[in-house]
Amino acid sequence: MSTTPELVIRGGTVVDATGERRADVRVVGGVVVEVADGLAVPEGATVLDAGGCVVAPGLVDLHTHLREPGREEAETVETGTRAAALGGFTAVVAMPNTDPPLDSAESVRNVYALAEGAMAQVAVAGAITVGRAGERLAPMAELAALGVRLFTDDGDGVQSAGLMRRALQYATGLGVTLGQHCEDRSLAAGGTMHEGAWSSRLGLPGMPSEAEEVMVARDIALARATGGRVHFLHLSTAGSIDLVRRARADGVPVTAEVAPHHFTLTDGCASGYDPVFKVNPPLRPQEDVDAVKAALADGTADAIATDHAPHAPELKDLPFDQAPPGMLGLQTALALAITELDLPLARVLALLSWQPAAIAGLDPAHGGAQGAPVAPGSVANLCVIDPGATWTVDPTAFASRSRNTPYAGRTLTGRVRHTVLAGEPVVIDAEAQR
Ligand code: DOR
Repeated sequence: MSTTPELVIRGGTVVDATGERRADVRVVGGVVVEVADGLAVPEGATVLDAGGCVVAPGLVDLHTHLREPGREEAETVETGTRAAALGGFTAVVAMPNTDPPLDSAESVRNVYALAEGAMAQVAVAGAITVGRAGERLAPMAELAALGVRLFTDDGDGVQSAGLMRRALQYATGLGVTLGQHCEDRSLAAGGTMHEGAWSSRLGLPGMPSEAEEVMVARDIALARATGGRVHFLHLSTAGSIDLVRRARADGVPVTAEVAPHHFTLTDGCASGYDPVFKVNPPLRPQEDVDAVKAALADGTADAIATDHAPHAPELKDLPFDQAPPGMLGLQTALALAITELDLPLARVLALLSWQPAAIAGLDPAHGGAQGAPVAPGSVANLCVIDPGATWTVDPTAFASRSRNTPYAGRTLTGRVRHTVLAGEPVVIDAEAQR
């Protein structure tokens, strides 16, 4: 619960799933108690200035690699959630490709324990298969009983269609969602970037678009057959987007996320062999970037998810073919969306807050879902954004333990000013409070 008994966020415009209005927000004991213009500030209350800013439900990241346990040199729950708070996130879904992986009740409880007192709520995505090895199912019911709502072998796709079908049958009974990293190993193995003109020119082995698309197509068929919910992680190709668009029109229970790097960077960025541009799925040609943007505009993509993937410099600075894939995302996602997408801010917030909150099963505490907007009675998980502020990305100032951002030196528009977690201001004027 909140350590700040009373808080007033003053002078902003509240934007949530129900619309926008000029209003101050008063919070007592972690809960919103009043939303109205010109609220009086009670004696002793903390005041957060929101003049010229938007007050929104906190952002929710469906795809964060916190690296703990096992790779604490790259990130910890503490540093990763601090980066999240600075990026406006009040909740993140922690990916299970840790060491050991999050495939047992004990490992999930361990992450919950590490996250006590963290600067953002940590929800855990459990592994679909034991050890993420793709051979037998993890104890999904046991994990679901601990509150796990999303399961994925992220980093790898579930290669066996039979096993995926069985997982979906269990998922249906448990009311949970399966997140798929779509990558057919028989097509992608050995690839280090997108297979196309740039991989030929650079002499690097490629991963074809079809490696992603055949698994999207397969899992749409399996979702249709079983009624199980599939959430597609980090979709990156025009073909995948097209498949999802058609499946949704047919009423198949699938959702999709896209990552900021797939709407801001192309495979040509790898022309200097700089491993900071190595990521999985790989950066794609401009036609795919355009398709990802179109998916965000027309609602085919439900969420922007960071795929925040910290890597220590001694690994990320290896030659392109040997470096691990992944890039930081938590502190740049919102600004990249505001800067690079031609979308109204309310739509950007839908993609970064209430829609992902619903997919993760984190509503109504996060995301201010339709039934729980920023209104009296809702949990005060909020962020205050200055949509017009510009800033330059400086990785040395990031809270993350790692520095692998491809956006260093880039000037972006849109800055997180304050983040409030259950009534406690964990970020004030872009400074972490602990
Ligand atoms: O680029 C990536 N990095 N893609 C993944 O799927 C995994 C992630 C990681 O864990 O580093």
